[in-house]
Amino acid sequence: MKNIVVIGSGVMGRGIAYVGAVAGFFVTLVDINENQLNLAKTNIESLFKKGRDRGKLSRAQYDNYPGNFHYTTNLDEAFEQADFIIEAVPEKMDIKRAVFKKMDEFAPAHALFATNTSTMSPTEIGSFTRRPEKVIAMHFFNPVHKMPLVEIVRGLETNDETVEATIELTHAFGKETVVINEFPGFVTSRISALVGNEAFYMLQEGLGTPEEIDRAIKLGLNYPMGPFELGDLVGLDTRLNNLKYLHEKLGEKYRPAPLLEKYVNAGRLGRKSGQGVYDYSDQLGVNVK
Ligand SMILES: NC(=O)c1ccc[n+]([C@@H]2O[C@H](COP(=O)([O-])OP(=O)(O)OC[C@H]3O[C@@H](n4cnc5c(N)ncnc54)[C@H](O)[C@@H]3O)[C@@H](O)[C@H]2O)c1
Repeated sequence: MKNIVVIGSGVMGRGIAYVGAVAGFFVTLVDINENQLNLAKTNIESLFKKGRDRGKLSRAQYDNYPGNFHYTTNLDEAFEQADFIIEAVPEKMDIKRAVFKKMDEFAPAHALFATNTSTMSPTEIGSFTRRPEKVIAMHFFNPVHKMPLVEIVRGLETNDETVEATIELTHAFGKETVVINEFPGFVTSRISALVGNEAFYMLQEGLGTPEEIDRAIKLGLNYPMGPFELGDLVGLDTRLNNLKYLHEKLGEKYRPAPLLEKYVNAGRLGRKSGQGVYDYSDQLGVNVK
């Protein structure tokens, strides 16, 4: 059975690890922060219980997962066993650089590397390794267990075998794929970052309350979630990092709204911190329901 290693156990990493385990792979979830790993464990156990209770998981899927699922803070050891590594650490190039260098040092030569970046260049990320042909972007959506798409983005050096293996793995995870060529923000983040940022400009300009703006977008434009509900789910720090990168690469239209920066500076990061635009203090640490 393939060993899937997911690095970063935050909002996305825990969801990716969950769908990998449900698909029957041996999964190792890695984080440098033990507290995050414990939160992820609670979250993943609750997803498995809900999946069982709602009849979405078979008895075998539920019974087998503890034996096939491993949590660790030991990065090197986890990488040594990997066939496929999916990176979900924060959207900062210096953090991704350090992680990919370590992956390259410790993972076996055959292992493929995917980044769950929302905006960044898989070509640049691949250049941090000695195997750029085996590096690709595999952009999952939040919440991972509910969202059907994975946007697969090939870098300049990514070879066809890596693209095919990534499509195969994504299908095994029960997801649909689109395969596109690299450009900052890909297809989806270019749109969602703009919409989310514009909503913050509206709030800053006093157009309405967050509830009114969300309601207008949901009922008037038929979006399933309002931009503030979505921003709080994504994480306002992650959204801000995405915007900073797109602003640097694509210019003025992605300049982050000052109010968004203010929220992040105040530590209001969304569901994961208990408060974002809305208050979640009664459900701290629960990103996925
Ligand atoms: N949040 C979303 O909705 C969303 C959607 C699609 C893609 N993404 C992308 O996924 C990636 C992760 O985002 P997230 O929202 O899960 O972030 P997050 O802040 O919730 O989690 C990041 C995790 O990485 C860990 N980490 C930090 N440095 C590390 C290191 N050197 N080694 C191991 N672990 C480390 C942190 O402890 C944390 O648990 C980003 O690139 C983001 O752009 C996010």
